[in-house]
Amino acid sequence: MTIHITEHNPPDNIVVPLLQNEALADQLSDLAIRSGQLASALQQDFRADAKETLLLYAQSAGPRFYLLGLGKKSAAPDLQNALRGFCHRNKSKLPLHLGVDLRHFPPADIPRLTDAAVAGMLLGLYDLGLYRTPDPAKPAPQFGSDKASLTILVPGAVLTESRKAAQRGETLARATLTILNFVNAAGNKKIPAQLAEWVRAAGEQAGFTVRVLQEEAIRNEKLELLWQVGKGSPHPPALIVLDYSPKKAAKNTPLIGLVGKGVTFDTGGVSLKPSANMHLMKSDMGGAAAVVGTFIAAAQLKLPVRLFGVIPAAENMIDGSALKPGDVVDSHAGKTIEVTDTDAEGRLILADAISWLLQQQSPEVLIDLATLTGSVIRALGYQAAGLFTANDDLADALARAGEACGERLWRMPLWDEYGADLKSDVADLRNYTGKPVAESISAAKFIEHFTASHPAWAHLDIAGTAFGDSEFAQSKSATGFGVRLLVEFIERWIGPRP
Ligand code: BES
Ligand code: MN
Ligand code: ZN
Repeated sequence: MTIHITEHNPPDNIVVPLLQNEALADQLSDLAIRSGQLASALQQDFRADAKETLLLYAQSAGPRFYLLGLGKKSAAPDLQNALRGFCHRNKSKLPLHLGVDLRHFPPADIPRLTDAAVAGMLLGLYDLGLYRTPDPAKPAPQFGSDKASLTILVPGAVLTESRKAAQRGETLARATLTILNFVNAAGNKKIPAQLAEWVRAAGEQAGFTVRVLQEEAIRNEKLELLWQVGKGSPHPPALIVLDYSPKKAAKNTPLIGLVGKGVTFDTGGVSLKPSANMHLMKSDMGGAAAVVGTFIAAAQLKLPVRLFGVIPAAENMIDGSALKPGDVVDSHAGKTIEVTDTDAEGRLILADAISWLLQQQSPEVLIDLATLTGSVIRALGYQAAGLFTANDDLADALARAGEACGERLWRMPLWDEYGADLKSDVADLRNYTGKPVAESISAAKFIEHFTASHPAWAHLDIAGTAFGDSEFAQSKSATGFGVRLLVEFIERWIGPRP
């Protein structure tokens, strides 16, 4: 599908997103004139409630309008969601060439809205049926096909900026679509070696390098925690290493380190999870997916930043050779860990990945993302990810980026008292406090022990935001959370530098 940003010559089918505000009545009379309808009738029938849609046929020749209500919310993430929903609901009926008219919005907002509109329409085309046998009787939707086009109508004054924004929106959406497939993939189709292959392919396509440490290298590098978590599975763990450098990297090009939890399936291990919702644990590599998506987008957007990413990938299984509760194991950082709960596996593999990353590189910011605890879902639900950092500037920068792009973060405390129960009688640390309170915070405190007191480390617990209910699926499915957030954060962080 091709994407055009123009001022004039709209296609014959145009989506008009409309806010419920003082301007609505005038906008509707204008649309009434353009389509030969009665203004008063239109004002009566369309209120611009969120998700309200009305199809306006032209009286004779002329464009057909799809009015789309936005309710009272006007920020870019709301437009993205509204268009994503519109596209998803109407996918099979949408014409080959479709426009989205944004010309009635305030000009200063239009580039960001263009980004959001392009992304929303592309994401709305996502097909969750990864393993469904194609039905020859059901024709593929026209809109979204190779011959199709999407035209965003913007005022001439912001045309250049909007074209750039559309590129960003398309890049972010395509990176997100790729990782939706990763996270929605079945556990048996994404064992660590397969995940590594996907990342390798993504790197080749987008332009970043990928190295994979397998069994032997993991042992040699003393990534003992990663090894121990993965050893109960016949599919060995892997450490996937991503490296992106812009073409014109200078000595002072900032370096950001990203770590993503890549548990390809989490049974809990010997501390076995209840079976009712266990199938959802195929999504326990949502952090890894966010990191990969960020690399794809950053490389395609040629962001002037260096990124170094580490994904510890393992399958947490129950088996005769699996790690047992009470086992004491070594770690890459040299600390000994008493594993009091094998289901608290994420913090173990993250500890090794972070420690290894800091041995290889000295990033100015270090961010890890993980579907780490059910506790963060009990605290924040599905609306925001938990943000843990001792660095106030970093906390602000991340939270603001999240607010701007609609992938929200909420800061949680990291007071030392929360880590007190991680003391072990027999080893340097234990991985579970034994108390079912504030588990997302004690998990963050555990990881903190392996960050070598990095001054700008942040941990994002995305257990609630990476995989959830939506209007796009019957049951929980991937959200792509983290890609837009991290790209937004990186752009702002490297932006105006002294
Ligand atoms: N992958 C889970 C966390 C999770 C739970 C993600 C629900 C998404 C939805 C993690 O490995 C885990 O099992 N955490 C335990 C920690 C506990 C043993 C301290 C949990 O949250 O119950
Ligand atoms: Mn677990
Ligand atoms: Zn897990």
